[in-house]
Amino acid sequence: MIFKFKKCKLSYFLRSYNNGFSCKWLEYDKYGDPLTILELKSHDYSSDDINKEIIEKNILVKILASPINPADINKINGTYGYKSKGFPTIAGTEGVAQVINTYNDCDLKKGDKVIFIGDHYMGTWREFGFFKREHLYKIPAIHTMAAAMLLVNPCTAYSLLKKFIHLTPGDVIIQNGANSGVGQFVIQLAHIFGINTINIVRNRENIDQLIGNLQMLGANCVFTDDSLKSDTVKNVINKVGLPKLALNCVGGQNCLDMISHLQKDATLITYGGMSKKPVIIPTKYFIFNNLKALGFMLNHDKSTITHEITELCSYFNNNYLSLPSYKTFKLNEYKDAIHHSQTPYNTSKSMFVN
Ligand SMILES: NC(=O)c1ccc[n+]([C@@H]2O[C@H](COP(=O)([O-])OP(=O)(O)OC[C@H]3O[C@@H](n4cnc5c(N)ncnc54)[C@H](OP(=O)(O)O)[C@@H]3O)[C@@H](O)[C@H]2O)c1
Repeated sequence: MIFKFKKCKLSYFLRSYNNGFSCKWLEYDKYGDPLTILELKSHDYSSDDINKEIIEKNILVKILASPINPADINKINGTYGYKSKGFPTIAGTEGVAQVINTYNDCDLKKGDKVIFIGDHYMGTWREFGFFKREHLYKIPAIHTMAAAMLLVNPCTAYSLLKKFIHLTPGDVIIQNGANSGVGQFVIQLAHIFGINTINIVRNRENIDQLIGNLQMLGANCVFTDDSLKSDTVKNVINKVGLPKLALNCVGGQNCLDMISHLQKDATLITYGGMSKKPVIIPTKYFIFNNLKALGFMLNHDKSTITHEITELCSYFNNNYLSLPSYKTFKLNEYKDAIHHSQTPYNTSKSMFVN
């Protein structure tokens, strides 16, 4: 068994792919429901095909793993803030890949692990792809699955905690969607930075288990959205301390109930809208509490992410950060993968692996 594995790895590295290879990918040619409009395509790349591809994009990579994030679904639905440049579009935004070949002088070499940056439509739900150097970011050695979801969830959590207000150990923040991928990294990073977190999740059958899991990550308290107005919750929050920062990825009533617990001069950052309901803030919060309400969009620029990727990778490698649970799928199981990602009260990511 071990021998077979070694043999297969060796042949993978020795193969140049210059004579051709076959590749599958998931694409859509109009906006709509991913379950109905996504199509699994495949192509046998000949050496002529390769020569045409490398005129513009001269690095061939094999995608190792790529998650399904809510933004991927919004992009396919056509509700994402940035539209694709044209159809057909290959789905998927982030992921980790291994360099197979570079067709000109370049600082990357065969076997390097890279993630994708600088474009909202990288098309990562595929087996192989040709990319420009500027869209590949060489990462430090970390676990493949951590690398696959390094950019969107951990970098967002890091930015939300670091880039808006100055938080010092002992400060308190509150967040909704606390069991989301981003939410779990917010809890863990806040714990590393000595910041206390008040976490809101939707109520569900196995709520005690979820609360226990988030506490294991470092959550100071976890409340269900339907309990936020209760005196018990108010008393606990008063004891922990009123939050100076609120992170909102849900919107609607959930967000409104959350900001009622903030201290004066607090900041609300909205970075997602999972309930698909608008953020409505009563005037009194602005006038009497001096609330500041801002939005956040992750910046994929190399210069911006280098420092945080280095820091985040060291947290992963020192076991300060753990991954949200995930379920792996092959590209041809995409319907199950999409269905899994859309299942409410799930707390598990879908991850394509090749
Ligand atoms: N602005 C940015 O740059 C940026 C970057 C990264 C992520 N985001 C956004 O952050 C959010 C979380 O992303 P993620 O990758 O961490 O997501 P994820 O791991 O897939 O988790 C999804 C979360 O949304 C919750 N949810 C689903 N439907 C909901 C509804 N109708 N009402 C309330 N909550 C609902 C789920 O809770 P249940 O368990 O209760 O279903 C879960 O907590 C998304 O909105 C995403 O677009 C934004």
